[in-house]
Formats: sequence, structure tokens, C-alpha cells
Amino acid sequence: MYTVIRPWTLSDVKELAAVINNPHILNNLRDGLPYPYTERDAAEFISSVLDADKSSLFAFTISHNGHCAGSITVTRNVNVHRLTGELGYYVAEPCWGLGLATRAVSEICDFVFTNSDIIRIYAEPFAYNSASCRVLEKCGFSCEGVLRNNVIKNGKIYDTMLYARLKAQDKTF
Ligand SMILES: CC(C)(COP(=O)(O)OP(=O)(O)OC[C@H]1O[C@@H](n2cnc3c(N)ncnc32)[C@H](O)[C@@H]1OP(=O)(O)O)[C@@H](O)C(=O)NCCC(=O)NCCS
Repeated sequence: MYTVIRPWTLSDVKELAAVINNPHILNNLRDGLPYPYTERDAAEFISSVLDADKSSLFAFTISHNGHCAGSITVTRNVNVHRLTGELGYYVAEPCWGLGLATRAVSEICDFVFTNSDIIRIYAEPFAYNSASCRVLEKCGFSCEGVLRNNVIKNGKIYDTMLYARLKAQDKTF
């Protein structure tokens, strides 16, 4: 069954704040998360996840030896894109290289494709984020292209990559 992803609980607040309060993580994510990231911010995030529509937001902690070591979500899109979901994740820096992200991405894809009508999961890592691109490739995502000059992060313009995995291809993984 699932060995790395588990549902959030409010007891994860302290560890979540410690994980994400790190520029090496925040520099690879979209803007909008506060820095410093406080335990209050973590509590608000976890509460919002617990209150969210369970068919629109699939959100798990990435667990390592029972501790919160990261976060992974698939967020359903709307309108004509409503059968697609966007994937996002991060892992605590001391746990990088242990295979946690790879296992978490595989597990959340299985969960979403099994428990919802979503047929496409995609991610848009910054083009320089080789580790994240590698994780996606290891999990059976195909690179569908480069979105040129697609983001501004910390005052600089970057390309992003577009990776996707389809439910229809899942029997091959
Ligand atoms: C990207 C991230 C999630 C990876 O987590 P992780 O648990 O270390 O990932 P894994 O251990 O499962 O796999 C990492 C893979 O990337 C590779 N890798 C690591 N750094 C790399 C680099 N600079 N260039 C190329 N590959 C790299 C590893 O060797 C490994 O591949 P391998 O198994 O073939 O050797 C983590 O570094 C992170 O949280 N970064 C900050 C937030 C972020 O980037 N989130 C994703 C936004 S799209």
C-alpha cells in the first residue's frame, strides 16, 4: 500500500514549519508562501487542507520514519481542464536523495487515478530544477515541452518544463 504519503494531521504543524522554512525549498516553488514560515502558517495550511473539498484537493504529508518530511498535492483544475490535476511537492532538505519524492509522486498518482475521475496529472518545474525533472521522469511522466520565459522568480525570468502522466498509460507502470 502507500508507504510514504499519509493524510495531514494538526500534529504535523511543528515539523511542517521546520521543513518549509528553507530558501532552498522556497526558491523552487511558486511565490505566495511566507518566509519566515511560522507554525501559525503551517497550522493554517493544514487546517485548509482538512477543510478542502476532497474531490478537488488531494494533499498528503510525505512521511519519513513517521515524521513529516514534506508535502505533496494534486489540485484539480476547473472548467474544460477539470479532469486534469496539477502536481506540487517538496521534501525536507536533510532527506533529499533518499527517494522520498519519487515514491511520493508514484503513490499520489496511484491514489488520484484510482480514487477520482482525473485523467491527466501534470507538473511545471522550473527548467533549472534537474532533481525535480528527474523525479518526474522516474515516475513515468513525459516531457511535453519547454514553456519559454514562463515565470519570474526572485526577479529573474526562467523557462519551465511541462511534464504529464496520463491515467490511460498507467497500466504500463
Ligand atoms: C526536487 C525534490 C522534491 C527531490 O526530492 P528527493 O526526495 O530528493 O528526490 P528523490 O531522492 O526521489 O530523487 C531525486 C533524483 O534527482 C537526482 N538529482 C538530484 N540532484 C540533481 C541534480 N542537480 N541534477 C540532476 N539530477 C539530480 C537524484 O540523483 C535522484 O535521481 P536518481 O535516483 O536517478 O539518482 C527536492 O529536492 C525538493 O524538495 N526540492 C525543493 C522543492 C522542489 O523543487 N519541489 C519541486 C517543484 S516542481
